[in-house]
Amino acid sequence: MKQIRLKLPSPLQQLSLNSESIGAPIADNHFATQLLWCKRDDLIHPIISGNKWRKLAYTLTHYKGIQHIISYGGGYSNHLHALGYICYRENIKFTARIRGDYRERPTPMINDLKEWGGQIEYLNKQAFKHIRAQSQQSIQDGELVIPEGGFTQSGLEGVGVIIHELLAQQQAFTTEAVTIILPVATGTTLAGLVKQAPANWFIQGIAVLKGQQYLENNVHSLIGDSYTNWHINHEFHAGGYAKSHPELNEFLHQWDHTTCPIEPVYSGKAVWGLNNLVINQKINSKHIIYLHTGGLQGARKT
Ligand SMILES: Cc1ncc(COP(=O)(O)O)c(C=O)c1O
Repeated sequence: MKQIRLKLPSPLQQLSLNSESIGAPIADNHFATQLLWCKRDDLIHPIISGNKWRKLAYTLTHYKGIQHIISYGGGYSNHLHALGYICYRENIKFTARIRGDYRERPTPMINDLKEWGGQIEYLNKQAFKHIRAQSQQSIQDGELVIPEGGFTQSGLEGVGVIIHELLAQQQAFTTEAVTIILPVATGTTLAGLVKQAPANWFIQGIAVLKGQQYLENNVHSLIGDSYTNWHINHEFHAGGYAKSHPELNEFLHQWDHTTCPIEPVYSGKAVWGLNNLVINQKINSKHIIYLHTGGLQGARKT
């Protein structure tokens, strides 16, 4: 991409694993043996941040020169926002097919897409579900159709680069055990990590929506059944996508957003889950890396 400057490799930051930064005290002798890191993919770009860039990178390189891109998502979709911005900057026509009718009250994300010249089509839930079920990444009459959330095989390739960056950023990761924690909504990012991770690494997803079995099936459909180095935890979705919980709210309130900003829809739930898993000593590896997948649409009011 000619026009857009990206911060790559994304920074790796060490977080202190103690009562202040992770929310509650844990046994000294335990946290003394572990190190907590944050892979700041949220800093790749203010708009094309986190896994959005990772999932789109290979597709956009592969289809260089395409004139029109169509994609799908909800009214707060970080994926549509990032893609809409890329199309605007790269002079590509963009059509966003959005679940629900926001004509009366467009979200800030939709307003941005309009400002960037995107074409908006609203679909009711039924129509959206039907089209989504059929939408594979494909070229139709010179138009590139990208499925909701960038759920594609080529998305996996771009995500896999994160592993190579991490191995180059910390020598210790090449020999010592690592657990990566990340939020999960379609499973694409998790699947891409699993595919590239060294044998002594473990990928632990935190589901941000009610999707037990559906999410596991998604991952299997992308990478098959032979990988055993991953798990999706379903305890921290707080009732569903973009739903909340008093404990989660309290956690977000206490969190030091100046060191590492998080929002309630994705990163907040994942870090809340991470906090609980660490406190309850459910993670045994020497290194714990939180992958900050970015995406602050869920926190926007304007
Ligand atoms: C900010 C953010 N983090 C995490 C995810 C979840 O990623 P995936 O859909 O690959 O599971 C999404 C949604 O795609 C997202 O927007």
